[in-house]
Formats: sequence, C-alpha cells, structure tokens
Amino acid sequence: RASDLRQLKATGDDFGLMSYDPAFLNTASVRSAITYIDGEAGILRYRGYPIEQLAAGSTYLEVAYLLVHGELPTAEQLHAWETEIVHHTFVHESMKRLMEAFHYDAHPMGMLIASVAALSTFYPEASEVDDAGNRMLQVHRLIAKVPTIAAWAYRHTRGFPYVYPENDLGFTGNFLSMMFRMAEPRYTADPALERALEVLFILHADHEQNCSANAMRAIGSSRVDPYSALAGAAAALYGPLHGGANEEVLRMLAEIGDVRHVPAYVERVKAGDFRLMGFGHRVYKNYDPRAKIIKQTADSVFEVTGRNPLLDVALELEKIALEDEYFVSRKLYPNVDFYSGLIYQALGLPATMFPVMFAIPRTAGWLAQWLEGVVDPEQKIARPRQVYVGRGERDYVPLERR
Ligand code: ACO
Repeated sequence: RASDLRQLKATGDDFGLMSYDPAFLNTASVRSAITYIDGEAGILRYRGYPIEQLAAGSTYLEVAYLLVHGELPTAEQLHAWETEIVHHTFVHESMKRLMEAFHYDAHPMGMLIASVAALSTFYPEASEVDDAGNRMLQVHRLIAKVPTIAAWAYRHTRGFPYVYPENDLGFTGNFLSMMFRMAEPRYTADPALERALEVLFILHADHEQNCSANAMRAIGSSRVDPYSALAGAAAALYGPLHGGANEEVLRMLAEIGDVRHVPAYVERVKAGDFRLMGFGHRVYKNYDPRAKIIKQTADSVFEVTGRNPLLDVALELEKIALEDEYFVSRKLYPNVDFYSGLIYQALGLPATMFPVMFAIPRTAGWLAQWLEGVVDPEQKIARPRQVYVGRGERDYVPLERR
C-alpha cells in the first residue's frame, strides 16, 4: 500500500530508505493499463492492440475511444462518441478574441498552451473531478476543441481569418479545412494526405509515462481541472527534447542541406558539439516502431506532394548513423520525430506548427492518463521527496553586517 512506503525507517527520526532517481530512469510512478512499450524489442501497443494494426485499420477517433474507454467501440458506441466530439468542436467567441490578442509572431505552441489553460475559465464545473459524467464531458470538449484552437493558432501566425469547424468533414478533414480553407466555400483534402495525417494522429496518441504524460498525471494529482493539467502537459511537450524535437529535426536537415555534408555533421555530433535530433529515446533501444510506419507514410505523401529533397538527407543520416559505432553502442535509432517533420512540411506546415501537430492527437492520451490517475485510489498527490544538499542551520545576518 502507498502508506507502507513511508514506513521504511528504523526509528521515528530516521531519514528512512529513499531512492534518488531524478529522471525516473528506474522508477515507476504509476500502474497503468493503457499503453505497453517494450523498448528493447521495439513494441508499442495501445490497450493490447499493436500500433501497426491500429495504424493500418483504425481511425484517430476510434483510437481515442480505445485509449479513454479501454476497449474498441461497437459501431453504435463509435457513432455516439463521434457525435459527442463533433458537438463540441466550436469554441466560445471570447476564445477567438483572446487568441486574436497574441502578437503576430507568437509561437503557435505558446498560443495553444495559453488558450487551453484559458478554456478552464469557461467551464468552472470542470473542477468537479470526482463526478464521472462531468469528467467525460471535459474529455469530449478537449478532444474536440484542441484542433480548433490549433488551427486558429496557425491562421493567426499567417494573418488569415479564423475558419469555423465544418462538422460533416470528419476529425482530420475538418482540421485540414480549418487550417487551409481560403476563399472557396469548401476545402476538400486529398484523401491520401488526409489518411496520412490520420495515421500520424494514431501514432502520436499515447506513449505511456513520457515527460508530458507524467506532467499531466502530476498536475492532475492535485485534482485541478483537466484544462489546467493539459496546458501543463502541452508545456512539457513544447520542450526541444520532447515534442519540440521534430521542429529541431527539420532545422537540422535544412542546415545540413545536402547529402554530401552528412558525414561531417555526424562527426560533429560524435564530438559532442550537438545531438542528432530525432535520434535516441529513453525507452526504445531499438528502432521506434512509429518511425517505421511514418517512413512508409512519407512515401504515400510524397507521391502526392512531390519528393522533399531533405528526405535524402534524412535517409543518408539514418544510414550512416546505423552503421556507426557511436550510435550502435548507445542504441540510438530514429525516433517518431525523425520523419514526421518531413511529412508536416510536405503538408504545407511551418516548423513552428510541428509540436502543435503532436499535441492534437496526444490530447486523447493525456486525457486517458488523467482519467486513470484521478480514479486510482493509490494515486495521492504526486509529491516526490528530495535529497537535501544545502547548508545546515545558521543565523540570519542583518544586511549592514554582510
Ligand atoms: N545524438 C547524439 N548522442 C545522443 C543522442 C543524440 N540524439 N541521444 C543520446 N545520445 C548519447 C548521449 O550523449 C549519451 O552518451 P554518453 O553515454 O557518451 O554520455 C548517451 O547517448 C545516452 O544519452 P542520454 O541523454 O543519457 O539518454 P536519455 O534517455 O536521457 O535521453 C533523449 C533520451 C532525450 C530522447 C535523447 O536521446 C535526445 O536528446 N535525443 C534528441 C532529441 C529527440 O529526438 N527527442 C525526441 C524524443 S521522442 C519524443 O519525445 C516523442
């Protein structure tokens, strides 16, 4: 029991047995039934279903249902779920005014984080996290509204008027319409591109206790409303070592510019000048299974959009790194971010939108993680201990004597 963990002391004033693991390298913070990863074997499953099968046959909203509810929906359940989500895609007009107030060159991820936090002020009942019906209402709202806010953040950076949701288009089609619709009354996405985005959304939907899921759970353990917790999770995702990596990958590929410059770049990585972005993972010590699927998806996208010359730079980087002792001995393989940025770029997105494209589908995972945490009787407020290394007691010295 959680309470027994505090009892590992010989005497009352004994500091007790304490593990020091600042990056959770060997510490499980939760028990979870959502996502399974075997990092050595390169396996990823949502609720037991292999990611490859879900990417091949499912849709993002079906996967979101699976993550949140634990089972694949029946046709009737899926219809009801989709209807609920569609019902909530619009945001309050005041949200629009709030977003319009951002500076013209504000980073879209910063706008997303702030806007999601602001959503909590529109739904004060969301703070009643003990009510199951209330919790699910916020889940529907967040899955539905994050794409709207994300698309508006993009339009804001372009100075384009915001486009309202068109709910007969489906989740991904609607998102593309809110992003790219211009003068014409309807925006129809190329089916291959829409499916590619759907696959990317499925692959990014959850990844067990990564930095942002851990943030979602830790913040949620204070029993704050899920909008505030999700804004914190999105902030964690913003960092360049997490969801910001795909943005960095594209910058890196552009900086390398040509396959001929790849060997020299790899040498500088090995010398410790900088890291190879999109490579390495805390859990995967094998090829990230998502990167494999994304690589195939890239082919279907480039058939429509034309080949991105930076793909050749990426392929060459991968080839050289996978044969190099530095990367082999450290088990550094391409991760999910290595190829996703190339697809986003082919879809016409600027690099600043890449972490936002990660946050949209990860919303379902964060919410599944949050739901699991708030109903777990073992999940007390997340409050780690520390190993104090500061000064012992000393007397205050008045300013004139220092
Ligand atoms: N390029 C070069 N060397 C690397 C890289 C890299 N991308 N990643 C790790 N290494 C090296 C480290 O220098 C270290 O070498 P050393 O033992 O000689 O000191 C060794 O590999 C182990 O690295 P750690 O930092 O201990 O690994 P950790 O598990 O803490 O980090 C992380 C994982 C943050 C993903 C790291 O691999 C990294 O910074 N990658 C680049 C950023 C990136 O792509 N992030 C996206 C991750 S996936 C996601 O968030 C969706």
